[in-house]
Amino acid sequence: MNLSEKTLKYIDGLIPRYPQKRSAMLMVLHAIQEEQGFLSKDAIEWTAQKLEVVPMAVYEVVTFYPMFRQAPIGRRHVKVCRTLSCALRGAYKVCDSLQHELGCGLGQTSADGNYTVEFVECVAACGSAPVVIVDDKLHENITPEKAPDFAAKIKKETTVSLPPSRY
Ligand code: FES
Repeated sequence: MNLSEKTLKYIDGLIPRYPQKRSAMLMVLHAIQEEQGFLSKDAIEWTAQKLEVVPMAVYEVVTFYPMFRQAPIGRRHVKVCRTLSCALRGAYKVCDSLQHELGCGLGQTSADGNYTVEFVECVAACGSAPVVIVDDKLHENITPEKAPDFAAKIKKETTVSLPPSRY
């Protein structure tokens, strides 16, 4: 598996900090996902070998935690908060609208590879609910009524200057 020198060095420095190698698993997986955007079969097997566990032990962790992905995400990552304050102010309708406008299902990537829409839990901006995070930027008060225009803005930004692939 191809990992940068920097990530390899980070992982090699990380593992000895734990009493057992396997205890470093979450941090190792985060580091790989940060660099590669998702956790491939190769990455899972590499992690298992590195931590001296069977691959199934790594699969169990990867499939348990929703923050780990086993497929690449789109170039624009759209995350809709669905916790109480946002849900009460229409987050589910916002999410439906964004999926419709951006052409992808929940947790899926649009056919052009540009957009992935997902739910996330509370991002601590409840006073400005509903909130949506696009890439790493927080957008407040994205009500169901505003969602179509908001999607159009994301599309325009993507067309005008498509950010480089995140990974
Ligand atoms: S409930 Fe959405 S930010 Fe807290």
